[in-house]
Amino acid sequence: MRVLLTGGTGYIGSHTAAALAARGHHIVLLDNFSNSERDVPARLQALTGQSFPLIEADIRDTETLTRALRDHEIDAVIHFAALKAVGESEADPLLYYEMNILGTIRLLQAMQAANVAHIVFSSSATVYGQPDSSPILEDFPTRVENIYGRTKLVMEDLIRDLARTNKLSGAANLRYFNPVGAHPSALIGETPRGVPNNLMPYLTQVATGERPHLNIFGNDYNTPDGTGVRDYIHVMDLAEAHALALEHIFANNVSITVNLGTGEGTSVLQLVRAFARATGREIKTLIAPRRPGDVASYYANPALAEKLFGWKAKLSVLDMCRDSWRWQAKRAGINDVQV
Ligand code: NAD
Ligand code: WQD
Repeated sequence: MRVLLTGGTGYIGSHTAAALAARGHHIVLLDNFSNSERDVPARLQALTGQSFPLIEADIRDTETLTRALRDHEIDAVIHFAALKAVGESEADPLLYYEMNILGTIRLLQAMQAANVAHIVFSSSATVYGQPDSSPILEDFPTRVENIYGRTKLVMEDLIRDLARTNKLSGAANLRYFNPVGAHPSALIGETPRGVPNNLMPYLTQVATGERPHLNIFGNDYNTPDGTGVRDYIHVMDLAEAHALALEHIFANNVSITVNLGTGEGTSVLQLVRAFARATGREIKTLIAPRRPGDVASYYANPALAEKLFGWKAKLSVLDMCRDSWRWQAKRAGINDVQV
């Protein structure tokens, strides 16, 4: 297949590009580099031995998008490009409506103009808000608790509506739980700008000495050790899931909404301990107040992905810690990484 990846030089996009290339697909990357590095295509080439054509463009530019889809004879799109910071979305709702919702509409218009009728979309477990229970199934109610989550839900609905009215032949809304880790080569990984919001990048920056300690946001939740529980999923497993989901919707012309998680909950303290075990690095922690808006615990029931397209996460929390550490250590110039 010839596949265009919007946001293809970003964290999850770049790993998916490598996974798709390994399965023989031809990949075109499209990105405006608002949250990624310009040498990602070159690093992907070093990793895979294949070249990755790059279109520098904004997803709101329908004309350029239409031309790219036509010129590269694209069969399907995987749509990663979005803004993704919950706090920023609450500070500037219109920015998020414009980049995420309007950007997706523009992309869908370009796809229609170029007769591209298959899309895989990056949704998020954030659409479940505070669930009544875990593990979470796909038919649980969606409860949007911030603007970022609202944009994900609207984008899912746009895609479902177009599939229902036969404007799209196949669509997959993939609800990621908590993606972490990096390619084991340490050639690609996550590059958060400024102070990381998310646990794993923050933790690895404590390990490199870039930050003095990790604040644990609350130890009085109703969870086994009092700290927040999440379903961390290795980005390599996630990348594989995109390839399988895409091949499934392309072969069967179906529209699906699917959780991508391991099905296992891990607490903040468990992750800190796993990190020390996997890397030999102890992390200094301090207990801090709860972070506003945080949910105590949630994790996926990932059975539908296995049933529909035979995907199951294979990598463990130790693998996630080891690969996140390799990546961050390399970026910090630490060369004696023995993991
Ligand atoms: P990322 O920021 O690393 O990747 C997104 C890419 O899109 C970046 O390379 C950025 O430069 C590009 N981009 C942003 N706006 C653009 C625009 N208007 N036009 C063109 N390119 C644009 O983020 P990621 O972690 O790889 O996330 C990918 C997708 O997965 C996003 O849609 C995100 O909301 C979703 N998601 C991420 C997580 C997570 O924790 N990382 C969890 C659930 C869902
Ligand atoms: C995980 C746990 C924190 C940082 C967010 C978005 C979500 C999705 C993924 C895109 C929680 C605790 C964190 C720290 C801590 N993104 N923590 N100290 O909040 O589950 O999800 O990213 O769709 O929409 O909300 O992930 O990694 O921020 O937090 O104690 O410095 O770690 O309280 O329990 P979260 P996270």
